[in-house]
Amino acid sequence: MLTGDYTIEPMKIKDLREVLAIEKAVFPHPWSENFFRLIISDKNNYMVTIKLGGRVIGYGGYHLLKNDVEFRLMNKRYDFVVHIINISIAPDFQGKGYGTILMNYLLEDARSRGVEFAYLEVRPSNERAISLYRRFGFMIVGIIENYYPLERENALVMGLNIV
Ligand SMILES: CC(C)(COP(=O)(O)OP(=O)(O)OC[C@H]1O[C@@H](n2cnc3c(N)ncnc32)[C@H](O)[C@@H]1OP(=O)(O)O)[C@@H](O)C(=O)NCCC(=O)NCCS
Repeated sequence: MLTGDYTIEPMKIKDLREVLAIEKAVFPHPWSENFFRLIISDKNNYMVTIKLGGRVIGYGGYHLLKNDVEFRLMNKRYDFVVHIINISIAPDFQGKGYGTILMNYLLEDARSRGVEFAYLEVRPSNERAISLYRRFGFMIVGIIENYYPLERENALVMGLNIV
């Protein structure tokens, strides 16, 4: 159930205080402010916030990979791919559909730019995120061993053809 009107807009420096508070609340190893600054200053990244009543309740984004990597999957070659690098909803607002809205927005935005394929990494223990990705049709396309070395946890790589 959604509780109000939301907006989705490009992430700005002035959003970082609220973004960092969410980042620290939801991840064991949060990105730093400097890292967010670096990410949003790179034109190959597209980061957005989702706001409710002007307050940041979540954020997410992707890194565009165009012709700089050759991405092959199941005998198909993709030239224009996005790596979804973050998607987070503040704890108080989880389970209300906002993660779904944000993912839908990011995939539609990527599709409108001509992107063919989206992929991301997720911890096998993150059932809620995996459930969300599966609902969009993401499938497990690989495993990266020891991707989260501090917890000695592998990452599942999930991918989705968005053509
Ligand atoms: C993963 C995340 C972005 C999902 O956002 P969200 O707004 O909670 O997701 P939605 O409300 O759109 O629902 C997503 C799924 O979670 C399920 N869900 C919602 N509330 C839940 C709850 N309290 N317990 C378990 N599952 C729940 C929904 O039913 C849905 O699953 P379904 O497709 O099987 O129905 C969010 O939980 C989050 O920020 N988690 C912490 C950061 C993180 O792990 N990010 C992903 C890194 S790969």
